Amino acid sequence: MPDPLPIAVLVSGSGSNLQALIDHERDARPGYRIAVVVSDRPRVRALDRARAADIPVEVVAWSDHSDRAAFTDAIVEAARRHDACALVLAGFMRILAPAAIGAFPDAIINVHPAILPAFPGADAVPQALEYGATLTGVTVHFVDEQVDHGPIIAQEAVAIRPDDDETSLHTRIRAVEHRLYPTVVGAFARGEFVVDGRRVRHRTPASGRTR
Ligand code: GRF
Repeated sequence: MPDPLPIAVLVSGSGSNLQALIDHERDARPGYRIAVVVSDRPRVRALDRARAADIPVEVVAWSDHSDRAAFTDAIVEAARRHDACALVLAGFMRILAPAAIGAFPDAIINVHPAILPAFPGADAVPQALEYGATLTGVTVHFVDEQVDHGPIIAQEAVAIRPDDDETSLHTRIRAVEHRLYPTVVGAFARGEFVVDGRRVRHRTPASGRTR
């Protein structure tokens, strides 16, 4: 079996998706290895989760940098210090400058709590409720220069119930994320995706064919 792909997981908050990635790495040996967890905030639960799993952590504070370009360079450097080959965003609340995409082409992945292109941005869950949508869900996508816009790798729907509030809906969305995201990151790490314009094709490892 080839060596697992070293990845950097970028976080800003509770880190429940980070935990799902940690658990999947330990239980399923999916082909990735979390080489470092990078946070833009110094005291978040995600960092406690990383430390509890003996994963190196780096804090790159937004306020320590003059602008988005300098902040992005520091994130890229932190990932490279740990030999990461990909950036996996897991509740990371900052927008990276285009230089990050140059540094990790087709190798930055995000999970978003809606079915893109509906409800991009930081308030996707309350916006779906306010809009009166009856379906929302989860999108895993490659990151490009625009926010919540890059080629879509996987999507899964979550029904909105009449009595849902933001907490109840986000809890069910997170449950889907925790199952879907580690699986997708594993398939990425094993080289199973080919980006073809806006399409992401799936290559079955044995045949090399795409579908
Ligand atoms: C998730 O819902 C993810 O889709 C969004 O931010 C949330 C992060 O949650 N980008 P957590 O920090 O992984 O618990």
